[in-house]
Amino acid sequence: MAEKKSKTIGILTSGGDAPGMNAAIRAVVRKSILDGMKVYGIQRGYTGLLNEELFEMDKHSVSDIIQRGGTILGTARCEEMRTEEGQKKAVDICNKFGIDTLVVIGGDGSYRGALALSRLGINAIGIPGTIDLDIACTDYTIGFDTAINTAMQAIDKVRDTSSSHERCSIIEVMGRNAGYIALWCGIANGAEDILLPEKYDYDEQKIVDNIINNRKHGKKHHIIINAEGIGHSTSMARRIEAATGIETRATILGYMQRGGSPTCKDRFYGSIMGAYAADIASAGKRDRVIAFRGGEVTDIDIEEALAMQKSIPEYQWEVSQALSR
Ligand code: F6P
Repeated sequence: MAEKKSKTIGILTSGGDAPGMNAAIRAVVRKSILDGMKVYGIQRGYTGLLNEELFEMDKHSVSDIIQRGGTILGTARCEEMRTEEGQKKAVDICNKFGIDTLVVIGGDGSYRGALALSRLGINAIGIPGTIDLDIACTDYTIGFDTAINTAMQAIDKVRDTSSSHERCSIIEVMGRNAGYIALWCGIANGAEDILLPEKYDYDEQKIVDNIINNRKHGKKHHIIINAEGIGHSTSMARRIEAATGIETRATILGYMQRGGSPTCKDRFYGSIMGAYAADIASAGKRDRVIAFRGGEVTDIDIEEALAMQKSIPEYQWEVSQALSR
């Protein structure tokens, strides 16, 4: 590993925002300055980098943000960064501002841009920020805890009205490619059925039989947690109502899951991972992704991190199935 200590950091947030990103930004900025480095905030992710939307940050730039949801830097999904031309332009802009290390807070997609820049000579450090928990190299991603608590509380509310009206409810939670939010809420909300993109072999007739059987035994509600990756909640509700004769409603929780004041856990993990990113940059480590593994903060080569695969833990899935019956 080349040990060239970083002098100037650029920091951006990219992809879907996540509560706790502000805590991570604050930690990167404050720890980098303490470690003797200069920091540029980059607005609107890679799009802002390519438009030179940069400003120098000091420790006051990150005052009063730890409790705020979203990201003070703004975020975007940037097509231009997928092109070689865009990547070269990004490197030229980093060089123009003297940025030797780029800290990227986001998910796998955002790390791919960072990896491209690292191959062109910019030190790239990723911090896992996504509500989806779908980054393979780490046990935790910033934003997940806030999102599942927001979803859990919303699902409890839907359950109240579902019981009063003796209805079946399909509640769709976020996770285009990953079912972690659905799995966690499915268990925490005591859902009768949980549908995940990773386990896309569910049988709708079995759900119908389950609803009818539960009703015979006096259950007043039936909660189905459906991950966004499976989707089609509204048409599913229509089919289930027709097959069971029980009123069925679909609720899509949507973007409310990405907002809100971060939980203590997201502020804590954001702060630790952000400070750690600044420390390894200052120590001259190159091209890493920060991770929490076995309760400890650590760092992994960015290329290796991107090659890792993640799947739903089998035992957790089994428990979710066993407890829902
Ligand atoms: O942040 C992750 C996530 O919420 C996914 O679950 C979802 O599929 C995606 O972002 C949608 O985000 P957008 O509509 O902003 O692209």
